[in-house]
Amino acid sequence: MGQSFTPGSAPDQPLAQIAQGRGYTYGCAVTARLIAEEPDFAALVAREAGLLVPEYEAKFDTLQPEQGRFDTGPLDALLRWAEHFRKPLRGHALIWHNALPDWVPPVLAESRARAQGVMEAHFDHVLAHTRERIRDWDVVNEPIANPPGSDVPEPPGNSGDLRDSPWLRALGPDYVAIALRAARQRDRTLRLTLNDYGVEADSPPAEEKRRRLLRLLRSLRDRNVALDAVGIQGHLQMREAFSPAIFSAFVKDIRALGLQVLITELDVREVKPPVGDFVARDSAVAQRVHAFASAAFEGGARTLLTWGISDRWSWLHREQTVALDPGDVHRGLPYDWELNRKQMWRALARAFLGQGVG
Ligand code: XIL
Repeated sequence: MGQSFTPGSAPDQPLAQIAQGRGYTYGCAVTARLIAEEPDFAALVAREAGLLVPEYEAKFDTLQPEQGRFDTGPLDALLRWAEHFRKPLRGHALIWHNALPDWVPPVLAESRARAQGVMEAHFDHVLAHTRERIRDWDVVNEPIANPPGSDVPEPPGNSGDLRDSPWLRALGPDYVAIALRAARQRDRTLRLTLNDYGVEADSPPAEEKRRRLLRLLRSLRDRNVALDAVGIQGHLQMREAFSPAIFSAFVKDIRALGLQVLITELDVREVKPPVGDFVARDSAVAQRVHAFASAAFEGGARTLLTWGISDRWSWLHREQTVALDPGDVHRGLPYDWELNRKQMWRALARAFLGQGVG
């Protein structure tokens, strides 16, 4: 246990309850497979999370693997589980450049009308199917182009603020507005969210990405395009600098446009190779998470989800490009591989409570 964290430094209650007591919501990403096959995972989520988001089950390739053939089975399974525990579930994600089944890009490329038709058919089916049960959707995920200097910069040739994507190529930069309007048209009271990453750090590429996102949000507002919230993914990296003042000012800038802000996918990548023993590593992660969450709340965010809950099932060790060397995993979620609470759990609890890192 690190110097600055004693076992008694946060109440022994589920994070959901600690958050809710202060008017916040804590949740996490889940998968239908883990819920069905890993009882320890399911029990942990049932206890800790007040809100869920499917890691895969509401992405395009799962929902419509072939044109006109919809499969809501995995999502329905998650919804049943969520409803059993009375936990709301967010939708993620309708329009994204990733998780597109093979059939989509060529059809989008055929013509503007075909592309619009694909979008509308998907929304018609999915939003009608989930209407009573999902009230908050990431309508557009990751629309902003990564500036020069990012880990994965936008390829040369695309000079706009928006990332190259089959949707952008088919419908032009207006595809974001088209998607938001189509979602609003089908469900007047759905909370429409635009979700993106790479806007958290104190670095030149993150600064430019914040500028690009704000430009998009302002142009949507100026054109009266329906939008309710911005999701900031929060895939943090320990090697990047973080400034609470800069980040909370950014959250306030978004809120000043009349939009809510959610932290939708928080987790932490450590430096590679990680430095120090588990206590030192967990302490560094916890400090960063506390600074980040506190700055988000100071800026006006009221909802925070982690992308998973235990290091054991984190995407961070399945993604080759970001994984640590074999035998080690990023310790970037509230619970470790053996499902012990880590300092990150306490850091989140204390941030929800408005307390210092401890
Ligand atoms: C990730 C999943 O966690 C991975 O398992 C999958 O291989 C790729 O997608 N931003 C998002 C999420 O919006 O949907 C991504 O989820 C992580 C980055």
